[in-house]
Order: sequence, then structure tokens, then C-alpha cells
Amino acid sequence: MTKPKILVSRRWPEAVETAMVEKYDVTFNIKDKPLSTNEFKDALSIYDAILPTVTDKISSEVFRVKNPRTKIFGNYGVGFSHIDIPAAKAAGITVSNTPDVLSDCTADITLTLMLMAARRAGEGEREVRSGNWEGWRPRHLIGTRITGKTLGIIGFGRIGREVAKRAHFGFGMKIVVQNRSKIGNDILIRTNAHQVDNIDELLETSDFISLHCPGGDDNHHLISTKQFKKMKNSAILINTARGEVVDDNALILALKSKEISAVGLDVFNNEPNINPELMKFENAILLPHLGSATQETREAMGFRVLDNIADFFEGKVPRDKVA
Ligand code: DGY
Repeated sequence: MTKPKILVSRRWPEAVETAMVEKYDVTFNIKDKPLSTNEFKDALSIYDAILPTVTDKISSEVFRVKNPRTKIFGNYGVGFSHIDIPAAKAAGITVSNTPDVLSDCTADITLTLMLMAARRAGEGEREVRSGNWEGWRPRHLIGTRITGKTLGIIGFGRIGREVAKRAHFGFGMKIVVQNRSKIGNDILIRTNAHQVDNIDELLETSDFISLHCPGGDDNHHLISTKQFKKMKNSAILINTARGEVVDDNALILALKSKEISAVGLDVFNNEPNINPELMKFENAILLPHLGSATQETREAMGFRVLDNIADFFEGKVPRDKVA
């Protein structure tokens, strides 16, 4: 039997690439640069499966191909707002993602951002490296403590729950959650979390606000001017979800007018060309989309994609089918 033809849009961990070539006829994107819409369109006529990532903008235009050979997009990552799902469905193409395996590491990076923002670690690091540190003194780089504070989590799925665990058990934080559907009491009770009906209630009472909802149209600019106005002036906003969930212009105004005290971002609108205004704020912690960036997790994500496409080519429903 001939091996299915697979296109991998970016370089993956070596262990996964090595495993993949045993089973499939694989083309790697050696340049490791995002492919263009036209390159994707061409690929649809050549490959049985395409394995994209968040850096691939797979718009409805990509699917405007007659009789595509591609039958599955095995996305490397949990978020899939970069893929036009209705267009994929209309073209009869299955889409899968990689949940679970990155929840721990994404939760870890959330706590990293919370701590960095609260304790002014970015400013401190820049000061030491620039040779401007004048030594210990009682009023130097005073931050705010996170222990015992209230953490508002928007989107209480797998990652949100891991964040709650770390914040509650590690830092004694009080957990408030907002989620589209009702969360079972058995789940809330694990971190003594309280679910509120609307975001406003969470914004008004939280010291830290962390976003863990999906991106895409439904949550586009979920956090904008009106929402910043509801936050405490001491609030710290953390985004490890998707850039589009936060309105950059509103965020920049909120930082300028000290409507919030700091922000920690791992995701941005228009990555990697982020709004240059953001870089002017000492109290903005900016990380280059590192949520899942550990050896263990990036390998697990790759093997999870392989599980999904193996299911598909064996005629089964992929375990992480999203469309
Ligand atoms: C994810 O898994 O969604 C990460 O943000 C990388 O795409």
C-alpha cells in the first residue's frame, strides 16, 4: 500500500519527525517559514493530510480548490481560530487539534506572567542587564504580592482549571470563573472556585484576570474599553489565549491612563508584528508565544497529531476531531 502523502508546515521536534517518516510520505517545510495562501492552495491538490500550526492563516480562500486531495488538517496546537472551520467543513475536510497535552505547560507560563507582572521581574531584569542597578533599598521596584489575592479566570476549560490548581494550592488564591456553560460543582469545588454569570462581575472583583477562552470571532475583543473600565486600577491582565481576545488600542489606553496596573501577554494580534506601542510600557510583560514551548509538550503535541491522522487513515474518527 502506498503511504499517505503528508505536508508538515513547520519544523517539529526531531523525535516526532523521525517517527512520522516511517509511516508516511512526508514533505517538511525546510525553510520553517509560514506558507502563503497560494502554497496552501497548491498543497490541497497534492497531499492527503496537511499538518498546520497557529502561524498558518488558513482562510476560506485556501479551500477554493476543485476536488482537493487533502482530507484532513491535523493541527499542531489546541487553538484553531487560524483555520476557517466552516470553509473546511464545506470542503469536506476534517480538522483535529491537540488538547490536554499542553495544559500543564500553558498553565505554567500563565503563572510565570502573573508573577513577572506582579513582581516587576521584566523591569528588574532590564535594570540589572543595563548596569543601572544601584543595590538593595526598601523602596526599590516594589510590586504586589499574589498570595491570597483573587484570580478571575475567563474560560474554565482544561488550561483554566490547571491555572486554578496552581494559583489556589500554590498561592492560596481565591478563584472566580466565568465560562459559557455551567461548570459542575464537582469541578468548582476542587479549587474552591466560584462561577459568576457574567464577565463584569469577575472584572470588578478580580486582582488578576487571566484569559483562557478560545479565540476567533466569538471572542474577538472580548476585553475592550468597557471591560478595562470595570477592572480595578490595581488589576493585572494576563493573556495566554489568543491575541484577538484583547483590543490592543483599548489596552494601550488602559495602561496609559493607569486604569490597570500591569499586563502579561504571551499572545498578540498579528504575531510576530506586535503593536510597537506595547513595548513602551515597563509594566507590560511580553513573551513570544511560549505557552507550550517545552521539549516534553512539543513532542507530545506532535505525537498527538500523529494519533489523530492514524485514526483518520484507519477509517476511525480522530480522537480530537473539531470539525
Ligand atoms: C496552541 O496550542 O493553541 C498554541 O497557542 C500554539 O498554537
